[in-house]
Amino acid sequence: MQLYFNPASPYVRKVRVTAHELGLSDRIELISVSLTPVSPHEGVRSSNPIGKIPALIGDDGATLYDSPVICEYLDARAGGNRIFPAAGAARWTALRRQALADGIMDAAVLTRYEQAVRPKELCWRDWVDGQLLKVRTALDALEDENLEGVFDIGTISIACALGYLDLRFASEAWRQTRPRLAAWAAAIGKRPSLASTAPPAS
Ligand code: BEZ
Repeated sequence: MQLYFNPASPYVRKVRVTAHELGLSDRIELISVSLTPVSPHEGVRSSNPIGKIPALIGDDGATLYDSPVICEYLDARAGGNRIFPAAGAARWTALRRQALADGIMDAAVLTRYEQAVRPKELCWRDWVDGQLLKVRTALDALEDENLEGVFDIGTISIACALGYLDLRFASEAWRQTRPRLAAWAAAIGKRPSLASTAPPAS
C-alpha cells in the first residue's frame, strides 16, 4: 500500500497511528507531498478528486480516502474491531469522538490556511474567530469527557487533533484551562504509535 503523506497533517497522523497499532506500518510506503488548497498536488488529485491527504493506494491499485475510511479499512484488514468497536454504545461514542476531533482539525487547518496561505490583506478576522470558537468549544467538551482507559479511533483522533494544535496553535495554550485533558494527552502521547508520529516542529 502507498499513502500520500505530510508530517504536519493530523489526518495523516490518524492513519499512521492506526497502522502502527495494528502492526501494518511496514506494509505502507509513505509518499511525501506538500499541498494547500491553492497549490494542489497532481498525484494526490489523480487519486482523490477532492485533492486531499491522506489518500491510500491499495495493493489492487484502488484508492481510499479520507482518514475515517482508511482507518476503518486498516482495522478490517487487521481482523476487524480492534480500533473500531464492533457495535453498541462503545462504537457510537468512538465515532462521535472521531467526528469531534476531526471537526477540531478541520477548523484548525482552515484557520492555518487563512493565516499562513491567504494574502494578509484578504484575511477575515471574524471568520478566523468563528473557527477558533469551534476549536475552544470542542476542547471544553472534551475536558468533560472520561477518556481514561479508552484506546480506539475516537481517542486516537483526539490525540492527533491536540498534537496539531500544539504544532500550529501553541499560543492557544489549550492546557491552561483543561487540566484533565492535558493529563490524558501527556499519558497517551507516550504510546510508541503517537510518539513516533509526532509532527516535527516547523
Ligand atoms: C500544515 O502544514 O499545517 C498542514 C499540512 C498538510 C495538511 C494539513 C495541515
